[in-house]
Amino acid sequence: MSGETYVGAIDQGTTGTRFMVFDHDGKVVANAYEKHEQIYPEPGWVEHDANEIWDNTKNVIDAALSSAGVDAEQLEAIGITNQRETTLIWDRETGQPIHNAIVWQDRRTTERIETLEADGKTDDVRAKTGLEPDAYFSATKAEWLLDNSDPIKLQRSRPEDIRDRAADGELAFGTIDTWLIYKLTGNHITDVTNASRTMLFNIHDMEWDDELLEEFNVPRELLPEVRPSSDDDHYGETDANGFLGAEVPVAGALGDQQAALFGQTCFDAGDAKNTYGTGSFMLMNTGDEAVMSEHGLLTTVGFQRSGEPVQYALEGSIFITGAAIEWLEDMTLIDNATESEKLARSVESTDGVYFVPAFTGLGAPHWDQRARGTIVGMTRGTRREHIVRATLESIAFQTRDVAEAMESDSDIDLSSLRVDGGAVKNNFLCQLQSNILDTEIVRPQVDETTALGAAYAAGLAVGYWETLDELRENWQVDREFAPKDPQNVETRYGRWKEAVDRSLDWARE
Ligand code: G3P
Repeated sequence: MSGETYVGAIDQGTTGTRFMVFDHDGKVVANAYEKHEQIYPEPGWVEHDANEIWDNTKNVIDAALSSAGVDAEQLEAIGITNQRETTLIWDRETGQPIHNAIVWQDRRTTERIETLEADGKTDDVRAKTGLEPDAYFSATKAEWLLDNSDPIKLQRSRPEDIRDRAADGELAFGTIDTWLIYKLTGNHITDVTNASRTMLFNIHDMEWDDELLEEFNVPRELLPEVRPSSDDDHYGETDANGFLGAEVPVAGALGDQQAALFGQTCFDAGDAKNTYGTGSFMLMNTGDEAVMSEHGLLTTVGFQRSGEPVQYALEGSIFITGAAIEWLEDMTLIDNATESEKLARSVESTDGVYFVPAFTGLGAPHWDQRARGTIVGMTRGTRREHIVRATLESIAFQTRDVAEAMESDSDIDLSSLRVDGGAVKNNFLCQLQSNILDTEIVRPQVDETTALGAAYAAGLAVGYWETLDELRENWQVDREFAPKDPQNVETRYGRWKEAVDRSLDWARE
């Protein structure tokens, strides 16, 4: 592969880490992936080992480059995209985390949010951050880490109080983008999209918010510098003497859902995409206006290029979709995700079974932290095929819940929806989604648009790509799914809503 140059992207997701290399046409040149451990210390708690994530990041970069015969010097830039909200604090001197990262799905701070509600503070938080106060976001996770991490584990001679050390600027807070930028370049930086998911950041002023920092007792000294998602000044360079052996600019970062929006070239107001990963996240670009939702969606930062205004998005965050298919595997109902398509097709319907996979509460548009998973409608004749089909239907129905909210908030009819993420390889799911939404589903050729979006952000910053039009030209349709087989969609959707009602507030104390 001598001569040519490329852009690399690290996609650090909830279940694993991927490194992809793209050429100027946006085509995949190299790809490597590694899973990491999911740590469940208590029911409802989810953690990741940030050192394992960093080791895996180095491994997948090495593996991808060597498999394609690409030298690190051929990379003009590296972009980063990441599972959002997942929260980490580390010691600036040793570079060691003070605790495992608390994952976005973690529910340990549910009660803290309920206190916020009881104190009548939710409207204020919503107005500043665009977020629906929930344990999902980083603020209460950071507060928990500062209050509960064990100083002994810091392996320092002085087991001093973590809060004192945080106030003295000895510790650093970050979401996973920040951790990787720090590991790659030594700089403590986040991008605007990731900052907008912390619930500590005012998305109108585009600043860390003093009142929120006070509310969640997070010292400003802990926080990273906030920079554009595509940064002409670069976040830093990789160390030529480090593992990569080359000085490559790290110049773009976006939370994974915003990266998918960018990779799907949803650059204009009204453009929307839905990504099917561990969860599913539908985002609609709303241009430079932060549209506040009246139907349970989030207002979030979509992206920002250096020197340009921030572009906002409306987001419908669904916590569990692909993870429900993983759960089917864990329960040995299927051998692998691919089998779900075959089994679902083998029956005409779910035979009246509805599955609400509210394993970690429900996100948009319900926002119920205490909802839990429910299967209703089973009979003695229910077979695994029905449950598998109900799982795929739950993905499509949850998407309809957020799509309806989005249409109401934006006054725009979703006549077609761009989709991406692992699960869209499943043609049955794409067709089902089209039927249930009564909307055309459009699947692009590169379905790893999350990594592509991060590569685009970094590549634009270093001039590898010059204009957004070049990127629009790279976007190619793989397949379109038009609505057909209505099969009582409206009746079934009504029953789905009843099933959701049964899952709400289940884990109340
Ligand atoms: O907000 C959580 C989201 O960023 C996680 O995405 O793809 O890792 O499930 P994913």
